[in-house]
Amino acid sequence: MSYENIILDRSERVAKITLNRPKALNALNSALIFELNAALDDLEADHAISVIVLTGNEKAFAAGADIKEMQTKSFIEAYSGDFIGPWERVTRCRKPVIAAVAGYALGGGCELAMMCDFIIAAENAKFGQPEITLGVIPGAGGTQRLTRAVGKSKAMEMILSGRMIGAEEAERANLVSRVVPVDELIEETMKVAERIAHLSQPIVAMAKSAINTAFETALAEGVRYERASFYATFATEDQKEGMAAFIAKREPSFDNK
Ligand code: CAA
Repeated sequence: MSYENIILDRSERVAKITLNRPKALNALNSALIFELNAALDDLEADHAISVIVLTGNEKAFAAGADIKEMQTKSFIEAYSGDFIGPWERVTRCRKPVIAAVAGYALGGGCELAMMCDFIIAAENAKFGQPEITLGVIPGAGGTQRLTRAVGKSKAMEMILSGRMIGAEEAERANLVSRVVPVDELIEETMKVAERIAHLSQPIVAMAKSAINTAFETALAEGVRYERASFYATFATEDQKEGMAAFIAKREPSFDNK
């Protein structure tokens, strides 16, 4: 499939998806989401790819849902058309998805970044949920994922007032895993992506699934889930290889088995 609204690059084990509507600050319209989802389907099925990086450009990761496209929607068009529903595709990826955010990540753009497994921010990143200024509320999980990430007080202030926060405040609030200079964003993100991509992929998937369980269950149930997954790692060849390599003081060579 050829893409007009995203750019897909593959290196040995890592794929990079660049949102590519620069004139509209990467506003997320239905054509872009359709292409993004097609690319994610393709990459999930591709055994050569272990990790996916999602990024934009220096000015914008994405400035939100496309206001021009949604302005005239009626309730029934939004409801019956499952508006936003398809955006959730990224949350169903079993492979790690890392958001590399420079510039604006607003509204649906902030929500898309939060659907990824973690966010690395450039120093110029700006996060916000300005939907309230348009007469709507966040619709792609902002009231839920932002609140879980930064807590009630900051989420309330950001969502009720539309105030944007910069990269440093986002790091202090635990919205992003770390902040890097703008011109090092892709290089630093690719480095961590490559590192993950060279580990055992079934074990990485188990770790991701266990962390996500923390957001969906009570603590005791989550710990039980983790323990069962931990026991399951002992059924893999990669556990034997990882521990043998440690004891032999050599680098492990994982076979994803
Ligand atoms: N939708 C459609 N077009 C958008 C857009 C959006 N979300 N954000 C920016 N654009 C367009 C602008 O209309 C403009 O296009 P034209 O040149 O054709 O006029 C172009 O991108 C550049 O934008 P600006 O001229 O506004 O750039 P700026 O540097 O002056 O301001 C900005 C940047 C502060 C990000 C500003 O563009 C802005 O406020 N954008 C809207 C942000 C927003 O409200 N996002 C939430 C959308 S609602 C949502 O996402 C719902 C949900 O939860 C799913």
